This record gives sequence, structure tokens and C-alpha cells, in this order.
Amino acid sequence: MPSTKALVSGLSLLLQIPTTQATATDINHINPLIGSTAGGNVFTGASLPYGLAKPVADVDGQNTGGFSTDGSNVTGFSSLHDSGTGGESFPCEDGGIAECGFTKERRKRGYKLDSVKAEPGFFGIELVDGFKVDMTAARRTAVYRFSFPSSGAEGDGAVSTDPVISIDLTDLWESRQNASISVDVKNGRVKGNGTFLPSFGAGSYQTYFCADFVGARVKDGGIWVNDRAGSEPKELFVTRGFNNFYLQAGGWMSFEQPDEGDTITARVGVSFISTEQACSNGESEVPNIEGDFDKLRDEAKKAWGERLSPIKVTPGNGVSDDMLSAFWSGIYRTMLSPQDMTGENPLWESDEPYFDSFYCIWDAFRAQHPFLTIVDPQAQSRMVRSLIDTYKHEGWLPDCRMSLCKGWTQGGSNADVVLADAYVKNITGIDWELAYKAMVNDAENEPLEWSYEGRGGLQSWKSLNYIPFLDFDYLGFGTNSRSISRTVEYAYNDYCLSVVGQGIGKDDHTKYLSRAGNWRNIYKEDQTSFLENGTDTGFTGFFQPKYMNGTWGFQDPIACSALASWCSLTSNPSETFESSIWEYLFYVPHDMANLIELVGGPDTFVKRLDYFHNSGLADIGNEPVFLTVYEYHYAGRPALSTKRAHNYIPRTFNASNNGLPGNDDSGAMGSFLAWSLMGLFPNPGQSVYLISPPFFEAVEITHPETNKTATIRNINFDSSYEKIFVQSATLNGKPYTKNWIDHAFFTEGMTLELTLGEAESDWGTRKEDLPPSLSDTVVQNGMRRA
Ligand SMILES: *[C@@H]1O[C@H](CO)[C@@H](O)[C@H](O)[C@H]1NC(C)=O
Ligand SMILES: *[C@@H]1O[C@H](CO)[C@@H](O)[C@H](O)[C@H]1NC(C)=O
Ligand SMILES: *[C@@H]1O[C@H](CO)[C@@H](O)[C@H](O)[C@H]1NC(C)=O
Ligand SMILES: *[C@@H]1O[C@H](CO)[C@@H](O)[C@H](O)[C@H]1NC(C)=O
Ligand SMILES: *[C@@H]1O[C@H](CO)[C@@H](O)[C@H](O)[C@H]1NC(C)=O
Ligand SMILES: *[C@@H]1O[C@H](CO)[C@@H](O)[C@H](O)[C@H]1NC(C)=O
Ligand SMILES: *[C@@H]1O[C@H](CO)[C@@H](O)[C@H](O)[C@H]1NC(C)=O
Ligand SMILES: *[C@@H]1O[C@H](CO)[C@@H](O)[C@H](O)[C@H]1NC(C)=O
Repeated sequence: MPSTKALVSGLSLLLQIPTTQATATDINHINPLIGSTAGGNVFTGASLPYGLAKPVADVDGQNTGGFSTDGSNVTGFSSLHDSGTGGESFPCEDGGIAECGFTKERRKRGYKLDSVKAEPGFFGIELVDGFKVDMTAARRTAVYRFSFPSSGAEGDGAVSTDPVISIDLTDLWESRQNASISVDVKNGRVKGNGTFLPSFGAGSYQTYFCADFVGARVKDGGIWVNDRAGSEPKELFVTRGFNNFYLQAGGWMSFEQPDEGDTITARVGVSFISTEQACSNGESEVPNIEGDFDKLRDEAKKAWGERLSPIKVTPGNGVSDDMLSAFWSGIYRTMLSPQDMTGENPLWESDEPYFDSFYCIWDAFRAQHPFLTIVDPQAQSRMVRSLIDTYKHEGWLPDCRMSLCKGWTQGGSNADVVLADAYVKNITGIDWELAYKAMVNDAENEPLEWSYEGRGGLQSWKSLNYIPFLDFDYLGFGTNSRSISRTVEYAYNDYCLSVVGQGIGKDDHTKYLSRAGNWRNIYKEDQTSFLENGTDTGFTGFFQPKYMNGTWGFQDPIACSALASWCSLTSNPSETFESSIWEYLFYVPHDMANLIELVGGPDTFVKRLDYFHNSGLADIGNEPVFLTVYEYHYAGRPALSTKRAHNYIPRTFNASNNGLPGNDDSGAMGSFLAWSLMGLFPNPGQSVYLISPPFFEAVEITHPETNKTATIRNINFDSSYEKIFVQSATLNGKPYTKNWIDHAFFTEGMTLELTLGEAESDWGTRKEDLPPSLSDTVVQNGMRRA
């Protein structure tokens, strides 16, 4: 996770869906509210798949996705999230303009928790005083339907006043610089725009909106500044105070009291190009403002249904609704972001697609992009093309990107992994020559500013073959920390280069293959590790910081773990990013066999992994942990991966509002869960899926391009999860002993049947059953397995 603001999602009412026999995709299982409190930071509002418009109620609590079920107060409703900006609107309380609380502090109000209704493409909420707001979305347009409480409902004699809706030029974290608004009373239209700052990146961006109100006659309108309002003027330009003082400001409109049961509908077109385009987006996507609400809601639901249609689940007797809900909701969240901003990129002209909100690739490359690759390869292709087009026009592949801005790089240049993953999985439509050029650029050229693009320390990387502790780097500038985590990530990134390079016939791929072994240079064989109370963990051999002169530095292997302190770019910067040396030890995705040998063989490796997971050193709430859950496979103990997955699910991933152990990071956590429940886990950048029985009787995935259906089915399925271990397996009816399978499983639509039992068996345990590792194949035939 990076972050302040993550995009995710979650849902609604618990539905009683019978879970007995084969069910098809059922989007009623999706609960966008999963992860809406306790740090999941999901986006719970209305959106199309990869949609730009993302309306939801914003609360003043912690939540960065806008809404949270943490009981904090609603401050407004806004249309863009993860960029979290652009015209919060808010219905005013009774009392007319003079009494209206315009500022967030004055207008905020509680909501009725049980009124919240979230589902794909829809979000509805009722505030404590009876205001109700329903929202839905087209790609670049949010639609809000406001119902005002009927007058006199609160005691007699209440003077009913005209409803007022205020349009605030603020964003969630008040980063607004200057902004403009204009109010057209005659046409019921409010237009505006402003400059804002990205929440995890550099620079600034401009956003534009165009709001049209219908349903009641507009009586008056004007602007407000800091709780003072007037009918004149009708336009405002507000700027950030000289010393960054933040002034709240916006526009307002008052309406005739609608008839009982009537609503006021607001259509808010958004754009990153211009106010005019915001208006035309709204007009073309939602021509009939009032009449289109239900139609849009249905269309959004249908769009989600179509995106999820490749997947079918046979739950099996006794599987809980919660398990299904966690599964479908996790999948749903993988498609909220990145957002399709094609046609909304003011930075360059191109015929290529433009996606934004890669928030961040460091989170998403591990499980989310591989997931999209199997269920929505066309979208994945468009995302990869967008990354490459960004390289073409900005000079670098993004590592993190939001709101048209470059986001902070957390470790390596992990777009390289996304590209290699697309390559080995035959994603179509990619210019691989250009893709490789972009990857080589990451590996060879150091940018002046490597805090948001490329890699730092490349001179040392090339000459010393590791990233040194306190590197002497005068070529480029970035946070000069993370020498250990950057070394292991750069090594894997270079492996990914070598795969694409070899595939398209580039001679230099061998150079990158050799740099892929650089992680070994920071392994200190005699390094020990003690817990804070002095207890010896009993393991020897860890990565350590190494100076340029080859002398070892020191970082406690447990530092930056959940047992010690939090380390990020800004908080306690260390030689490992957001995790410990303990955890990064396991990050050698391309050469697990070599790592296992180095730490003393499979038995020691398994003991280490167990200790890591059982001691609290593992941080299940952050992405670097993902692969470690399944690494027992590489030590010939696939049953232990299965056991580990069941230990975390549903204990730490479940269908509750607090059912995520950490920031969902734009669907990264959702995809970890989806893969886990489905019974396969990717090692991204390689055509490898680690097999561990699904939590359901069977799952089918129809490849959207070949139309062939892959099936993974449990025989002897037991929903109490006592029989979770594979005893034997067949692939297309023939015995299958490997504990992994390659991507052809999906494209060719194979059937994998796993016979389960209560005890670990010898299935998948022999050397020839293990997933490929670089050193095996290099030793055997001098080159990597294709
Ligand atoms: C919501 O706002 C009210 C009124 O300002 C305040 O009393 C209450 O404590 C707030 N609730 C939360 C959870 O912040
Ligand atoms: C608004 O602020 C941005 C960023 O500070 C600046 O680039 C832009 O010129 C300003 N616009 C106006 C009209 O002052
Ligand atoms: C920004 O909004 C103001 C007020 O509506 C308008 O005058 C101005 O033209 C807008 N700017 C752009 C670039 O659309
Ligand atoms: C040290 O902490 C570990 C983990 O909490 C615990 O198992 C062990 O008993 C403790 N040892 C001592 C000597 O307190
Ligand atoms: C290597 O450099 C470090 C940091 O400057 C220094 O502490 C150490 O003494 C040096 N080692 C040698 C052998 O010069
Ligand atoms: C669901 O997951 C959350 C977050 O990991 C955890 O705190 C909670 O205890 C879990 N709930 C159940 C019922 O397992
Ligand atoms: C897959 O199905 C779609 C829709 O029915 C069809 O257009 C397409 O040609 C099919 N592709 C293949 C490879 O059969
Ligand atoms: C990728 O495409 C090539 C050429 O069409 C084919 O040989 C290979 O099997 C495909 N790989 C996968 C994983 O589908």
C-alpha cells in the first residue's frame, strides 16, 4: 500500500442466496461495503467497471475512498474518487440561505447506518435528518437524486423553507489551489473547475465539472465564501491564500419546495479537459436527466454482470453466503481502478487508450493485473498499451499514477513485471518492441528524479551488482533508502526484462538474466535474528545492507515488521520498504529454488516460513506478503500453502465491513482473495499458477478471447474445510502431479480435478513437481525454460 487514498469498494444488504448447487455469476453477492471500515479504504460508491465518475457520500473520518461505515459524519457527495475531488454538493438544512451551514464543519451530519445501500452501479444513503440521496454513474457522469424530508415532519409549526443545494469547490483533503464556479439560475446549471494536488504524487491537475439540476424550479442562486453567501455575484474565482490558508467556497442554488415524494436530480458531468467537455459528457451520456436514473442504474448493473460473466462458481453444499460474498466482492474491486480516462487526457494526443489511477503498480502487479489477464484480457491489453503510451510521451513507464500525475515509486520499476506478465500470457495488441524499449529504459537510464519514475542507483547496480547502503549517487535523486527492497525488486524486474528480451530475440537479454541474480549479493550468511525480548529466532542468513566498499551495514531483520515499527517513504525510512528483512527474504519470485538452497534446504525454508507467519512478523495487511502464503509449493509442501491460506481466510479476509486486514489498494487485496478462493495463485511475470484447492466445489473461467472454459474442481469437497489437502489430481482426465500449472490452462480451457483428503499427501512434492526456478533451468540447459 502506499497511501492515503485507495480505491476500492464493497456492498450492501445481506442477501439470502441459496448456495446449494451450481450458480452462475451472481452480482447480487457483491457487497461494496466490505472493507469500508478499519483501514480497508474501499470505494463503496457507484461506478461502472473502470469508470471515471465515482459518486459516493464523503465522511469526515479516516476514509480516503470517500465513504466509511465507521459512523463518522457525512460532509457531502462528490463525483471523483481516488482523486477525491471536484465539487462536493450538499443539501442545506432548513433555514434558508442565511442559516445555511456552508462550510464542512457546519454542514456535516450523521447518517443512518441501516439506510446505506451499496451495489454495483448504485449507492443510496439517508442522513439523520431525513435527507435521502441516491447515486448512479455513467462513465464520466455522476447522477444524484436528492429527496428532502417532507416539511413539518419534525414537530408542528416547522416553517418549511426552500431546499438549497450547495456546490463546494473542495476535495477530501483540501488540496484545492485556485478554482472557479459560475451559477446559471435560468438554466439550472452550475459549472466549475479547479486545480488540485494528487494524493500520492507530484504536481497538480485540473478538473472540470458541469452540474445540471432538474425536478423543482430553481428560485435563486449565487456563491458563498466561508459561510457567507449572496445571490450576487453569480461567479467566483477563489485562490489559495498567500500562506496556503484554505478558504472554503462554492456556489448554491435554491429550489421551490418539490411536491411530496418528488426529488431533485443533479447530473454532474466531469472532465479533465475542459468545462465544456464536462457539459458535453453529461449531455451525451445522460440525455434525460430525471428519466435516465433507473436506466443508468440498470445499465451499470448489466455492465458489471458482463465483466464478471467469465466466472462461474459451484459453491458446494454448505458453503456460506459470506464466502461467496467475499469472493465476488473481491473480484468486483479489481475492476474499479485503473480508470478508463480515454478521451480525458489533456497531456498528449494519441489514439491509444489512456488509463489512470494505477494506484499503485507496486500493489497491483502481484495479483490484480494477473487476475484481469484471465477474466478481462482486453482491458488488461488496453491498460498495458496505456502504460507504454505513457512511456512514449512522458519518457517513463509509470510506477504509480493518479489524476494525470506521477505517483511515488515504492520499490522497483514494477511496470516491467506487468509487461512481462502480459508477454508470457500472450496478451494481444501490444507493440513488444516498444514495450521492451520502455523496460530497458528503466534498467539502463537513471532519471534525475527517481522518486516517481525509473530506478535510482543504476551506476552501482551495474558496477557493484547491488544497491548499496548510503549509495554515492549524483546522477539522480530520490529517497535514498530501501537498498535491500530495491535490490530484490530490481533483480526481479531485470529477470522480467530478460524474459521479454529473450522472447523477441534481443541479445542483451542475457545481461538482464545475470543481473536477475543480484539479490544474492546482499545475502549475509551468518546474520542472526532476535526478537525484541532477546529470544533467538533460531534462523541464520538474512539480507543485510551493504556499503559501496563491500562492508556490511546493519538493519535488524525484524525492523519494519508488525513486531517492530512502520517504515514508509516518509515515516522511518529504512533499507526495506513497508516491511522487514524477514519478509523481503522471501522475495525471489524467479529463483525460489536457489533461495531455498541458500537458507539451508527445503526443511529449514519451511520452518522459516512457518515462523514468519506464526510469529507476527508477517504483515497479512500489505502486498509483499502475498506470495509468501504460497511459497511452500517451492519447497515441495503444497499442502502447507493450503493450510496457510485457510489460516488467513476467513479469519482476516471476510465479508464484514471490516473484512480486510489492510488497505485494499485499488483491488490488490480483493484479487489476493479471489485467487486464493479460486484455488490458483499467480507468480506474476511467469506463466505459473500454484495449485491449492478452491474454497468452493468448483470454479469455471471462460477465456473471453478463446471462449474455452477452464474448470478447477474438488472431488470430496467438504465445506467445513477439514478435507483440504490434495491427494491426487487429474488434468483433462489424466493424472497430474505437478503442483502448478501454466497459462494454457485458461486459454485452452482445461479441466483440473483435485481429489481431497484430510491429511497431507505426497501429491506435488517431488522435485519434478515443483514450479520452475531460474537456477534449475540455467544449470540444466543453460537457459530459461520457455
Ligand atoms: C458528528 O457531528 C456531530 C455534530 O457536529 C458531533 O456531535 C458528532 O460527534 C460527530 N460524530 C462523529 C463520529 O464525528
Ligand atoms: C491556478 O493555480 C495553478 C497552480 O497553482 C496555476 O498553474 C494556474 O495558473 C492558476 N490559474 C489561475 C487562473 O490563476
Ligand atoms: C472554469 O470555470 C469558469 C467558471 O465557470 C469558467 O469561466 C472558465 O472558462 C472555466 N475554465 C475552463 C478552462 O473551462
Ligand atoms: C519473547 O517473545 C516471544 C514472542 O512473543 C515469546 O514467545 C517468548 O516466550 C518471549 N521470551 C521471553 C524470554 O520473554
Ligand atoms: C566501508 O564504508 C563504511 C561506511 O563509510 C565504513 O564504516 C567502513 O569502515 C568501510 N569499510 C572499509 C573496509 O573501509
Ligand atoms: C474479518 O476480517 C477482519 C480483518 O482482517 C478481522 O478483524 C475480523 O476479525 C474478521 N471477522 C471474522 C468474523 O472472522
Ligand atoms: C468467442 O465468442 C464471441 C462471442 O460469441 C465470438 O464473437 C468470437 O468470435 C468467439 N471467438 C472464438 C475464438 O471462437
Ligand atoms: C502463446 O502463443 C503462442 C503462439 O501462438 C503459443 O505457442 C503458446 O502456447 C501460447 N501460450 C499460452 C500460455 O497460451
